Amino acid sequence: MIVRFVGPIASKIGKEVEIRIEKEISVEEAIEKIREHYPQVKNDLLDLSFYNISLNGELLKKDELETRKVADTDILILIPAIAGGGKEKKIKLIIGRNFDISTPVYDSFERKYGFFARLAWEIKKKIGYAELVLDVGCGTGVLGEVFSDSKVVGLDISPGMVGIARNRLYDALIGDGSRLPFRDSSFDAAAFNAVIFLIPDGEKALRDAVRVVRENGTVCGTYIVGLFEGDEEVLEKIGLNHSLPFPWKSVEKAIGRLNGITDEISFRVKREFVVDFYSIPAMSNALFPKMELEKRLELVKQKLSNLPDEMDFVWRVFRISV
Ligand SMILES: C[S@@+](CC[C@H](N)C(=O)[O-])C[C@H]1O[C@@H](n2cnc3c(N)ncnc32)[C@H](O)[C@@H]1O
Repeated sequence: MIVRFVGPIASKIGKEVEIRIEKEISVEEAIEKIREHYPQVKNDLLDLSFYNISLNGELLKKDELETRKVADTDILILIPAIAGGGKEKKIKLIIGRNFDISTPVYDSFERKYGFFARLAWEIKKKIGYAELVLDVGCGTGVLGEVFSDSKVVGLDISPGMVGIARNRLYDALIGDGSRLPFRDSSFDAAAFNAVIFLIPDGEKALRDAVRVVRENGTVCGTYIVGLFEGDEEVLEKIGLNHSLPFPWKSVEKAIGRLNGITDEISFRVKREFVVDFYSIPAMSNALFPKMELEKRLELVKQKLSNLPDEMDFVWRVFRISV
């Protein structure tokens, strides 16, 4: 069996290795064999959810790793799901973990307010009908309801989120928005609902989305601008800042470079909504980074009680024509 690697493993044991196998074994067992033969990459291959694995050119779903068989003549390719290195990779892993522990709260927030679905409708208005849609940062699969007449393929860095999205979308896989494991022109459209600002190399993600969308297709998304009372930023007024790896002004510049257009969307929201929004563990991290979860949630309740009763939650929607 031939095994090819991309990224850190390749620099430890080479881009390609050959391992003899006597009889057909599962993909999972095949990877166990690599770990036995090359102890120096044992830890790299502990969590397979962080790899896109292809067998003879076909991308495997996570639940196929146990069942799909590999023969001695087969070719396995392992591509890390998270792009970049150093600081960027670290930020992505933290964000992925934060969304992992956010899954149940995120889901109940969405059931209560249907907020991310409202944002997704703005994307739907821009894209119209598309047969095959890539949903980058799919979360729990909210886009599936809105694009009910399309096949939606989700991709998300959080295995917990993908676990739920898989039941709601045509398919979903774990991966990084700035390293899409798809061939050029594979989709009719790509959507980034409430995610682009979370990707440190966000412009790379937009360019990769343009690559995987066919000619005359569309790349669309929504991104957060802030909470306002008139012209005043209300979080700033109470001494807080929603820190983002790819802030909206940088998002906007990147969209401009790709000849995209943006429109503003605004929602009148109550303080309770804002407290619930920032009580999602991943969101509380944006206000109070590097703090224990319990402390963050306590601070959300305490500090956000100083917000006005109602305010405008301002977002923008972008459209890039391919
Ligand atoms: C605010 S949620 C939005 C989820 C979904 N689009 C929706 O509308 O409900 C952001 C999602 O982006 C995912 N995410 C963050 N960084 C990512 C990256 N680099 N690649 C892929 N997904 C990412 C998170 O795990 C999370 O599920």
